Amino acid sequence: MKVLTLLGSARKKGNTARALGWVEEELKSLGHEVEQIDLTRKEIKGCLGCAKCKENPKAIACIQKDDAEGILTKMMEADATLFTSPAYFWGVTAQVKALMDRSWSLVTGFHTPDHVSLVEGQRQALLVTGGGQYENNVEPIFTGFGRLQNFYKTVNAGELFIGGCTIDGNMPEDARQRAIAFARALVV
Ligand SMILES: Cc1cc2nc3c(=O)[nH]c(=O)nc-3n(C[C@H](O)[C@H](O)[C@H](O)COP(=O)(O)O)c2cc1C
Repeated sequence: MKVLTLLGSARKKGNTARALGWVEEELKSLGHEVEQIDLTRKEIKGCLGCAKCKENPKAIACIQKDDAEGILTKMMEADATLFTSPAYFWGVTAQVKALMDRSWSLVTGFHTPDHVSLVEGQRQALLVTGGGQYENNVEPIFTGFGRLQNFYKTVNAGELFIGGCTIDGNMPEDARQRAIAFARALVV
């Protein structure tokens, strides 16, 4: 499978990058093709909500010229997409949110019989690291991700939250094993 991974943390050696590294290593060892995009090093402007992209259901057709269209095109070409992010104030980072907002251009006719998605059927997964635990903390991130799958008409191929990750690099002992199991489920 061709797997696109999206690094949503600015810290190249941080907890999220480390966990993503374990996932990618496992995917590659299983023979899958992995391409990572570091979202922080890309220009992704906020969605303007102009709805120009709705005029052409067969193309991205966003009027903004930055890196978003290229990233969304790679998403369309992949068999699976993995979103990753540290929890930032009970949400994903601004980089990830900006791309999710711009992905509005992948879908037309949401909530109508003409609902069309340019990534329909793709496997997608979400990996989040955080300092706290799951409860009373990151539920909104995963609820939102589930809704995004309905919007995209994609297959939810996994959700992993690694809590107890401190900003100075401490991660729970079982983090690597959980990342490996998550990687395997992503490409089943
Ligand atoms: C601005 C900011 C906001 C944060 N908000 C949360 C939060 O809402 N919930 C949580 O569990 N951890 C929160 N954290 C902790 C980070 O999510 C956690 O340490 C994460 O593993 C850092 O990932 P990184 O090393 O990839 O940057 C926050 C950290 C920062 C810097």
